Amino acid sequence: MGQANKDTDDWFSGKAAIVTGGSRGIGRAVAGELAVRGASVVLNGRDQAVLDLAVQELRDAGGSAIGVQGDFLDPEFPDRVVGACQEEFGRIDFLVNNAAASSHSGRVLDCGPDAFRDTILANSWPAVAITQAAAAAGLAEGSAIVNISSAGARRVHELAGVYTAGKLALESLTFTLSRELGPRGVTVNAIEPGIIRTDMAGTIWNGERGAAETRLVPMQRLGLPADIASAVLYLLGPHARWVNGTMLRVDGGRFHVGGESAHMIGVFE
Ligand SMILES: NC(=O)c1ccc[n+]([C@@H]2O[C@H](COP(=O)([O-])OP(=O)(O)OC[C@H]3O[C@@H](n4cnc5c(N)ncnc54)[C@H](OP(=O)(O)O)[C@@H]3O)[C@@H](O)[C@H]2O)c1
Repeated sequence: MGQANKDTDDWFSGKAAIVTGGSRGIGRAVAGELAVRGASVVLNGRDQAVLDLAVQELRDAGGSAIGVQGDFLDPEFPDRVVGACQEEFGRIDFLVNNAAASSHSGRVLDCGPDAFRDTILANSWPAVAITQAAAAAGLAEGSAIVNISSAGARRVHELAGVYTAGKLALESLTFTLSRELGPRGVTVNAIEPGIIRTDMAGTIWNGERGAAETRLVPMQRLGLPADIASAVLYLLGPHARWVNGTMLRVDGGRFHVGGESAHMIGVFE
């Protein structure tokens, strides 16, 4: 094992992490990487059976994990998740604000007020609410927060313009929270994933559409949850302690600034 890997493993061992939406997809991969390095993990999701399975898999692999079933749009949810982490593990070191959703698919011109509000809120408020609750409960010195944005956040998106606006709000909040929490030794960063093979993005990576998207990625493949989990671990880990208020794009080079493919094909059609 190299020194950098050993430092990383030592860093996570004995600490506690909350991964929202950790029951599936990117969040599940992040939870797995944390648990295997000795961090205790609190996962959440709405589907109890899927959540139970994820927790059991982590425990079967020797990890320490609990699940807190619930919907992040429930105003009591952040306190419940943070309280469970404190109660079970006695500390909170890492937050990965990953769960998100979109209630609108289509043009911004056609989005009604309810879908607009729900989508912007779902992509920004849960991260803020969990961060507030964790900060009040006492984030340990050296804690780190990673918000999962999207590579689409700063791009024109034909069919998910409201979702990407919610992600851009999340990025703005990431900047401000990095300023507010920095003096406490807590970093706050965001990751902008490209297209990742999860349930959420199934319509993009399947079939002809997936083949077309793959050709636009310089690395000639779409992303896997593990690609994002590696980047999350870096931002939470010992080698990123002076990385703060940063957006890290992880997309195989697909959306490089000024690149020919800076305009996304629709996601939620
Ligand atoms: N996949 C991509 O291509 C891609 C690209 C850019 C950004 N992202 C971002 O990456 C993050 C994870 O996406 P993913 O692709 O891993 O999604 P996913 O596979 O659909 O998983 C979403 C996770 O969030 C949970 N969740 C969803 N809505 C919830 C709610 N209202 N309350 C509580 N938990 C909820 C889900 O569990 P339940 O359904 O059981 O609640 C699940 O654990 C999101 O922020 C997404 O915007 C994804």
